[in-house]
Order: sequence, then C-alpha cells, then structure tokens
Amino acid sequence: MNNEAQRPASIKEDADTNRRKFLINTGMFSAALAAAPAALALPQSEASGRGAVPQAVNKRRLGALEVSAIGLGCMSMTSESYNPPRAKAEMIPVIRQAVERGVTFFDTAEVYGPFSNEEYVGEALAPVRNQVVIASKFGFQFEQNTSTGRNSRPAHLRKAVEGMLKRLKTDRIDLLYLHRIDPEVPVEEVAEVARQFIQEGKALHFGLSETSPDTLRRAHAIQPVAALQSEYSILQRTPENQILATCEELGIGFVPWGPVCRGFLADKFDEWSRFSEESRLSQVPYFTADALQKNMALLNLVRHWSDRKGVTPAQFSLAWLLAQKPWIVPIPGTTKTHHMNENLGALEVTFSSAELKEFRTAFSAIELEGVRSPESALTDL
Ligand SMILES: NC(=O)c1ccc[n+]([C@@H]2O[C@H](COP(=O)([O-])OP(=O)(O)OC[C@H]3O[C@@H](n4cnc5c(N)ncnc54)[C@H](OP(=O)(O)O)[C@@H]3O)[C@@H](O)[C@H]2O)c1
Repeated sequence: MNNEAQRPASIKEDADTNRRKFLINTGMFSAALAAAPAALALPQSEASGRGAVPQAVNKRRLGALEVSAIGLGCMSMTSESYNPPRAKAEMIPVIRQAVERGVTFFDTAEVYGPFSNEEYVGEALAPVRNQVVIASKFGFQFEQNTSTGRNSRPAHLRKAVEGMLKRLKTDRIDLLYLHRIDPEVPVEEVAEVARQFIQEGKALHFGLSETSPDTLRRAHAIQPVAALQSEYSILQRTPENQILATCEELGIGFVPWGPVCRGFLADKFDEWSRFSEESRLSQVPYFTADALQKNMALLNLVRHWSDRKGVTPAQFSLAWLLAQKPWIVPIPGTTKTHHMNENLGALEVTFSSAELKEFRTAFSAIELEGVRSPESALTDL
C-alpha cells in the first residue's frame, strides 16, 4: 500500500494534530499510556482512569445478548486484508487493553487467518472468559489452510464448531454467526443446526451476516437471531433499505462491520491513496482512484463535522452509527491500542436530532462512487 507518496503534507498533519488535540483534551491519551498491561483483574473504574467509558452508556442489547456498546473487530490482526498479519505477542495486549477499557464484545471468524485469529482471541480472553462475549463465524470450506468456498452443510458446520471451540479455548461460543449464505443449503437447515448447538450449550446465540430481510425472517422463524452483521457506515448505507427496519420489527440487533469504512472514515486515506495488488483494499470498488477522488466529498464533510464537534473523524463516524438505533453495536477493527482507545471516545459523542437531520441532508446530497446499491440489500451477499 502506498498512500503517502503523493499526498500533500498539510492534509495529513491537520488530521494528526486534530486527533492529538482531542485525545489530550479528554485525557484518553494519558489514560492509555498509564494503563497497566496486565491489570486484567481490575474492575473497570480502577483500570481506566480519566476519560473512562461511562458504564451506563456502555451496554447495548443484541436480541437477548448484552454487550459493550462498541466491540473490537479482530480480523486485521491476522488476515492479509488491510495489513500484513501481526504477531500474536503484539495483538494480545491490544485485545486485553480493550477489556480494561470496558469492551466486552470481540469479533472473530474461522476464516480470519484462517484459524489463527480465533487462536489469538481465545488466548487473549482466556483469563477473563466469563466477563466477555466472543462472537465467531463459520460457513467456509478449507483445504490446506486456504478457504475454497462456502459450505453450510450440517455435518461440516458440526465439525467446524468443534475446531472453533478448541481454538477459542472455551466450551461455548456466545454468538455464533453464519458468515455467508451457502446457495446450496437452505438457511432453515443452518438455523436448525444452530438451534441444536444452543440446546447442547456449544453456542449461546445465533447470528447471520450479509443476508437479505427475507433470509433473516426465514432463519428467525426456526431459531431466533440475536444479531445481523453487515457492512454499514456513513459511506456504505445499504442496510438502511429494509434491513434495519426488519431487525427492528423482529427484535434483532445489528452489528455494522466496516464502521469506519476500512479506515477511510478514520481519515487514513485520501484522494492520493493507492493500494498494492496484495492488499484487499485494491479490490474495493469505493477505493479505486476515481472513486476516492469522488468520495472525498463525503470525507471532507465528516472532517468538517468532526471539527465542529471537537472529535476525530473515526469518533464522529462511530458515534453517528450509535445514534441511528440503540440496538446497533459497531465493531471497529484495529491492530493498534491507540486507535482502539480513540474509537471508544465515540461513546462520549452525542447528537441532537437537529444535528442528525442536518448531517443526513448534507451527506444525502453527495454523489458517491463504488458503493453498493440500495436494492442489493434485498439479496444475500
Ligand atoms: N461479517 C463480515 O463479512 C465481515 C467483513 C469484514 C469485517 N468483519 C468484522 O468487522 C470488523 C471491522 O470491520 P473492518 O475491519 O473491515 O473495517 P473498519 O473497522 O471500518 O476499519 C478497519 C481499518 O481501519 C483502521 N482504523 C480503525 N480505527 C482507526 C482510527 N481510529 N484511526 C485510523 N485508522 C483506524 C484500521 O487500521 P489500524 O489497524 O491501523 O488501526 C483498519 O485497517 C473486522 O475486524 C471483522 O471482525 C466482518
């Protein structure tokens, strides 16, 4: 990835200065530096210090499952998605620091790595297993440590769960998602297997990812779905077409993946950013050179609003998601403790309804490139 080469220096400096200003103002920067690395047993109030996440607003419900209002996405710690895989010894402290800051919701999947991500998460959370919620996903076939496509056949899912439990060092997966719909297997069959896992105590709650409202209803009729996890951010707003309404009607929580748009809404890229072929970002339609050029109008709007509210673009973008519905729980992904701490600052950002309306009017007028169409919400990804 080469996103520094042609970038005018002033843009990056402004973003960094702004971020430092916010962290110092809220005391988070010093709290992050001062936190003891092995203080896992400390209660939240002692572990966090100034700038701590207030407990009262720190919990949300996904169906019957209670989680912290912001989770931690662990994918990029091991997969080649946005950066080279990171060493386990470097990532475990990031996960544990999140626990210290009050995060109780951790997102992984069998396919991340594959397999190694669940090992990192399992090892990091083993000492606090009963205080946290582990979410993982299955539904892919593997040969020689490489994913060879979707597979939701019940016998395969049974085998997969046994491996996941071992890697996660646990006897139950709190939230077990089907990662993608297998066109060969009706979702009712998967929901039935999930129902059996729950009866056996191997899973506590069932989730789906990137499904249409119709698929969600069909699965929910067999086994109540606690959460749907799909891409949702200020830039990628597909779930606003019928998906969120269906979740609300059925009492299903919503977990936005890509909540800072894979870094774009955290001000990590700009119109000069270019991605090497090895990076998954090079295949993302809203990150082509033309799309970045066009989509900068949205980032500029987010930058403007972030300045107006005295927060960083990542905090603004996460807070905007939290403000949409009380049962939305974003899971920003990061490999860095300071980004994790910054992202939790979103919990302190509030919006008036007039601000939400004004911001929506402004972003709705911006023409975007490379985003999914609203109609795509009605088919499984
Ligand atoms: N269900 C699905 O199909 C699906 C698909 C994709 C992802 N997921 C899950 O959702 C989680 C989140 O989604 P995502 O990782 O794709 O996208 P994301 O959270 O929108 O973006 C992650 C990227 O943003 C950067 N970032 C995060 N916070 C930042 C900050 N404050 N300042 C600057 N950069 C920041 C991270 O880089 P740094 O490491 O440098 O912080 C990382 O490269 C994943 O970890 C994974 O668990 C699920």
